[in-house]
Amino acid sequence: MTSIPTHTLNDGTTIPAMGLGTWPMGDAEAEKAVSGALELGYRLVDTATNYRNETGTGRGIARSGVPREEVVVTTKLPGRHHGYEETLASFEESRQRLGLEYVDLYLIHWPLPRVGKYVDSWKAMVKLREEGLVRSIGVSNFTPEHIGRLEKETGVLPSVNQIELHPLLPQAELRAFHAEKGIVTESWSPLGRGSRLLDDPGIAAIAEAHGVTPGQVVLRWHTQLGALPIPKSASSRRQQENFDIFGFELTPDELAAVSDRPHRRLGGDPEVHEEF
Ligand SMILES: NC(=O)c1ccc[n+]([C@@H]2O[C@H](COP(=O)([O-])OP(=O)(O)OC[C@H]3O[C@@H](n4cnc5c(N)ncnc54)[C@H](OP(=O)(O)O)[C@@H]3O)[C@@H](O)[C@H]2O)c1
Repeated sequence: MTSIPTHTLNDGTTIPAMGLGTWPMGDAEAEKAVSGALELGYRLVDTATNYRNETGTGRGIARSGVPREEVVVTTKLPGRHHGYEETLASFEESRQRLGLEYVDLYLIHWPLPRVGKYVDSWKAMVKLREEGLVRSIGVSNFTPEHIGRLEKETGVLPSVNQIELHPLLPQAELRAFHAEKGIVTESWSPLGRGSRLLDDPGIAAIAEAHGVTPGQVVLRWHTQLGALPIPKSASSRRQQENFDIFGFELTPDELAAVSDRPHRRLGGDPEVHEEF
């Protein structure tokens, strides 16, 4: 089994340089996919309260037989539970569904700026970390303005910001902001789910030159940018393919060519997207 590179977070913990996404799997599918991925060597799993598969994810971890301390388990706070006390209660429910003593990485799923309670949730997450129930805390879909508020009002920066990132939305400015602040960028929809990105002839040509697949080219692009992709796959074959991306190197020209295309979002705009 191969082991893969890691990132050191700003709180001193380390996490693998890629992981498994689990949305939109149900419990049974997540259990199978998570245990299979861990057997292949994956050590980072991404779920969320709103994916409704924390139970299956937890079962998959137990079923894999991989020691708990080797696995980085991520889950996320849903919009309907923003607020200090609500966050503490929501976390406890997630922890119970996962069947775990602690969670490795807990993220605020969306900022919901109109609701205006993400700073209160952040304070609760800081407390969860202090209590050892969460190892690392982070955010998802936050802009520099939202992160600036967390820093100003609590003095605590997130360790991770999980954002929409793929060759159709390379997020250069936000990645530079993260680098300046010591925040690791995680990429959701890293393969450009729902687009025809992997059918692109330019990406196919790069894949052919390296003897790899278009999916591997795109995932390697993420890791060479310093971002951490969490591709979802329910297929063991594609999980294996997505994991096997550290044995080749894209050139600077190839990296530029991968994202040299019109840019657009595939998902929600963090300023206005509301998901409860
Ligand atoms: N924080 C957020 O707001 C947020 C939002 C969206 C997603 N996420 C997280 O990010 C994860 C990944 O994003 P995503 O699921 O939206 O998109 P994605 O990982 O870009 O794409 C997943 C799709 O690509 C297919 N696929 C996987 N590997 C492939 C390969 N090597 N070649 C061709 N097709 C492949 C999968 O099908 P098969 O399963 O059949 O392989 C699935 O249909 C999610 O699962 C979730 O954990 C977070």
